[in-house]
Amino acid sequence: MRLPGFKCVVTGGASGIGAATVRRFVSEGAAVCILDRDLASAEQLAAECGGETFALELDVRLEPSVQQVADAVLSRWGSVDVLVNNAGSELNKTYDQTTLDEWDRVLDTDLKGPWLLCKYFVPSMVARGSGSVINVSSLNGLVGFPLSTAYGSAKGGLVVFTKDMAIELATSGVRINCVCPGVIQTPMMERWTDLMPDKEEAKAMLRGVMPIGRMGTAEEVAGAILFFASEDSSLCQGAVLSVDGGFTAQ
Ligand SMILES: NC(=O)c1ccc[n+]([C@@H]2O[C@H](COP(=O)([O-])OP(=O)(O)OC[C@H]3O[C@@H](n4cnc5c(N)ncnc54)[C@H](O)[C@@H]3O)[C@@H](O)[C@H]2O)c1
Repeated sequence: MRLPGFKCVVTGGASGIGAATVRRFVSEGAAVCILDRDLASAEQLAAECGGETFALELDVRLEPSVQQVADAVLSRWGSVDVLVNNAGSELNKTYDQTTLDEWDRVLDTDLKGPWLLCKYFVPSMVARGSGSVINVSSLNGLVGFPLSTAYGSAKGGLVVFTKDMAIELATSGVRINCVCPGVIQTPMMERWTDLMPDKEEAKAMLRGVMPIGRMGTAEEVAGAILFFASEDSSLCQGAVLSVDGGFTAQ
């Protein structure tokens, strides 16, 4: 058990990497609050996990909702040990095809959301002098890709946000770190390949992107998130961990 009795919050915990993280945390002894726009799936997963794990509906883009949810969680649990900012929204368009609404959706979900969650959860961690925040960025936050200006800007912003927060929190006892997954087999990836004229060809191309020759699994990313959630990473502050089958090693 690497998270015995830990109280954890996972945004976007109803699907993909978030759901794998919820399951892994529970198997390591934690109780998890699953925050997601998709309440039905979040509740289904909470019921599967049992114990003290529960689900609440949240759109991470909305400050009043984030504040309300943080108040509810903190009054129920007193404090939280781990916050995982995982909820994310993708866009595959060139800079000039991207509409203002699409830009705002991606930046608000992938960058403003993690900041809002930190704003309302981290002060209680600081007050008791411990806690761990893990931001889920992307390899798109580290290197340039075509069709990625909005998503890459948000994920790159999240990398630097992690580092800035790490310095602000350095002596507080609260750690904040970041994982950058490569191509991971999740519903988000399925949605992307669904847009392609030949889905199987697109998947083969994606496997080829990863030097290891296959896509990653949500469980493999959850393992990296667990490392930052647990005391095993006690010296990590503002670290950015690529979980990408060697992509950024090239
Ligand atoms: N799948 C990949 O290849 C990949 C690669 C790098 C990074 N990521 C990042 O990993 C994270 C998880 O992605 P995934 O592949 O598991 O995606 P997914 O689509 O399977 O899951 C995303 C979850 O976030 C929730 N969500 C979306 N917008 C929300 C909002 N505004 N408020 C609350 N919840 C919201 C969705 O309902 C869903 O449950 C994202 O931040 C994504 O950008 C994914």
